[in-house]
Amino acid sequence: MPKIAHIELPEFPLLLAPMEDVSDPPFRAVCKDAGADLMYTEFISSEGLIRDARKSRQKLDIFSYERPIGIQLFGSEISSMEEATRVATTANPELIDINYGCPVKTVACKGAGAGILRDIDKMVRMTQAVVKATHLPVTVKTRLGWDEQTKNIVEVAERLQDIGIAALTIHGRTRQQMYKGEADWTLIAEVKNNPRMHIPIFGNGDIDSPQKALAYKNKYGVDGIMIGRASIGNPWIFREIKHFLKTGTVLAPPSISERITACKKHFHRSLEWKGEKLGVLEMRRHYSNYLKNLPDSKIFRSQLVLMDDIVAIEKLLDEALAFYSAMPDLESKVMHQMKMQQYQETEPPYETTFIDG
Ligand SMILES: Cc1cc2nc3c(=O)[nH]c(=O)nc-3n(C[C@H](O)[C@H](O)[C@H](O)COP(=O)(O)O)c2cc1C
Repeated sequence: MPKIAHIELPEFPLLLAPMEDVSDPPFRAVCKDAGADLMYTEFISSEGLIRDARKSRQKLDIFSYERPIGIQLFGSEISSMEEATRVATTANPELIDINYGCPVKTVACKGAGAGILRDIDKMVRMTQAVVKATHLPVTVKTRLGWDEQTKNIVEVAERLQDIGIAALTIHGRTRQQMYKGEADWTLIAEVKNNPRMHIPIFGNGDIDSPQKALAYKNKYGVDGIMIGRASIGNPWIFREIKHFLKTGTVLAPPSISERITACKKHFHRSLEWKGEKLGVLEMRRHYSNYLKNLPDSKIFRSQLVLMDDIVAIEKLLDEALAFYSAMPDLESKVMHQMKMQQYQETEPPYETTFIDG
């Protein structure tokens, strides 16, 4: 069983990726229910935390059912990262994670996120400062390198392990690639198979089905995988992968009752955590995910994204449940839609959101 310092994880753990504006406590609650073994907060700006920015501070909120959880920090100044680590430690997560993978211009071009891949000495110094600033285990999430010519992850992994990180997650792309092309896991496997390495190595990039999870587990030998985009609107991917790894059979997609229950839970947690106004507003972007591949779901979606009244929203979700529960052959209709969807998707979903964001 892999262990991150003293944190025990199940065999071949499935990690929920840190995702800005996605992996907040309401979303994490439904992913935990669906079987995520280790979760991370969205990335938090070290400068924001130090300045006591309300939004950054709020991202430190952790609930007991989410454990084990890591708080992810990013920044370009070593002293700020050090101080932010001390602040994040007081929130009492299981671990602190450093983001050295964000490719977004506003972050990377200031030397934070994946930007630090152009200055490995600084990356090592920053990591060392973070490790020293907390009693918690420190993990790192990064990419293969800055660009095609500088894929230095094997050296980076050794150097970071040497100064005390407790686990490493590698997204199989360079910064230059952003989210384009296919993630290349061969270098991730090289890190994992390096006899010098003894910390857990988690692979990340493009896992979107139980079959792919098993194939990559076998082919690349990583200690676990991290899932991002494929969990959006489909938190059940965690339990689907676990079931497939255990039995070799494909679990049926979530029932309509499970979908609506998860949607309502997400909604309630959003209201509790964000307040009613923002909770209602920000939930609007999730309805289409929960209703994805259901026939005629536009009828419900188009109303839900305009509604403000909490009771009326809940009533409409109940109506959707009744409508689909009474529909003959719903499961085969959903499967058909899923197949059609695969043919239509030429770009990975959410690509533009993050690059622009
Ligand atoms: C909307 C969105 C937000 C993201 N925000 C973060 C973030 O805050 N921190 C981070 O390390 N990576 C972030 N990422 C990258 C993911 O954690 C992950 O590395 C990437 O999506 C590849 O994994 P996937 O193919 O399973 O989605 C984000 C990705 C997306 C799509």
